[in-house]
Amino acid sequence: MIVPMVTWAAPVKIKFSHVVAENTPKGQAAVKFKELIEQRLPGKVVVEVYPNAQLFGDNKVLEAMLLGDVQMAAPALSKFQKYTKQLQIFDLPFLFDDLEATERFQNGPAGQGLLGSLSKKGLVGLGYLHNGMKQLSASDPIITPTDARGKKFRIMTSDVLQEQFDAVDAVPLKKPFAEVFTLLQTKAIDGQENTYSNMYSQKFFEVQEHITETNHGLLDYLVVTSAEFWMGLPEEMREEIHTALNEAIAHGNQLAFEFDARDRQAILDSGKSKIHTLTPQQREQWVESMRPVWKKFEKEIGADLIDAAVKSNQK
Ligand code: LMR
Repeated sequence: MIVPMVTWAAPVKIKFSHVVAENTPKGQAAVKFKELIEQRLPGKVVVEVYPNAQLFGDNKVLEAMLLGDVQMAAPALSKFQKYTKQLQIFDLPFLFDDLEATERFQNGPAGQGLLGSLSKKGLVGLGYLHNGMKQLSASDPIITPTDARGKKFRIMTSDVLQEQFDAVDAVPLKKPFAEVFTLLQTKAIDGQENTYSNMYSQKFFEVQEHITETNHGLLDYLVVTSAEFWMGLPEEMREEIHTALNEAIAHGNQLAFEFDARDRQAILDSGKSKIHTLTPQQREQWVESMRPVWKKFEKEIGADLIDAAVKSNQK
């Protein structure tokens, strides 16, 4: 049998898997990344983007990545606790005042150091991507912490988030993102926490009459790849891919600010969900109830890291 000689190398394939809709900061960053790669590395690298948990949910994607079934993903920072305890910092309630503070922390030495926190597990953190600050939604108005008592809230797979809801005597349930709409619609749960972008694009607002603007926590992402895939690429190609990814992330981060305001307004305009803002006194009650959670995770995360994050609130 004559074996034909291969004179060209097959392009490197990057499957990028995520769980949100395309019309979100992460969805748009992934699309931008694909565009930039195809312009700059035509025929050498192809990117396939799989949104809406079509390929993997966040509970499976990192295992799949280590097996080589997917090359890039951007799970919420809340979804890495099996791999590192340090990223739990991003879940501490009322730690960051706003997205700008988060950015200062992520871009500073402490945040940049955390990108390497997965290296022992064979994963490489390539960059942070924003979504926004989380709000609470529920079928009843939740204005003070006592309103949350006994209510079932879906959370991401994070022990910090579990403690956060335990702190107000609510019932947190770890569930995959793809199941949240149905859980809310069937009233199997009472509420959830998320950004305006996710509440809008997943239509949670259509089945939750009340949203409380708590800004109590952060939903950001870590774009990750596997060390095996990454280090197996020629250096020049790796650099080109990283540059394109950084540009895509910058694009997504800019959209995060815009989409937060846009989707908040779209929810208001729909008339389906009422947005409750809190008085400073009401907000303070939430802070007081949830702040003790920090102490429980201080050892695992590191007091220095928490201090650095608190300092990032200063402009
Ligand atoms: C969630 O599970 O609520 C979020 O992590 C979804 C996402 O990727 O924004």
